[in-house]
Amino acid sequence: MTDLIEEAKKARENAVAPFSKFKVGAALVTAEGKVFHGCNVENCTYGLTVCAERVALLSALAAGERKFTAIAVVTQSDQPGTPCGPCRQLMWEYCGDIDIALANLKGDRTDYKLSELFPHPFYFSLED
Ligand code: THU
Repeated sequence: MTDLIEEAKKARENAVAPFSKFKVGAALVTAEGKVFHGCNVENCTYGLTVCAERVALLSALAAGERKFTAIAVVTQSDQPGTPCGPCRQLMWEYCGDIDIALANLKGDRTDYKLSELFPHPFYFSLED
């Protein structure tokens, strides 16, 4: 997981955050150990901004990956930042109860299972 945090830190350097100045990096690892990177990408309408976690996840899904084990997220905040609600929902749907390592630039780190951060997810199956 320490390596994954380093990957997220590197991904953060590509963040496009001219409006908030809050840069976020994410690194998502597949069951086979392949790492997909994401950074937040902001937009002048603000509302079209995409979070680092979603960029990493959508990039992995677009590459055909479907099984994930862990994600690391790095922010510049005083306390490691937690993923926003929409990212938690998407991660739940596509990654299940993965390991989440949150870190800041000072080296503080907090580990969670997604179910701790998102205990009552919305989900339905087309087969129900
Ligand atoms: N952001 C993320 O990239 N991930 C999160 O989980 C929360 C917020 C980004 C969105 C925006 O570019 C900036 O952080 C400030 O909200």
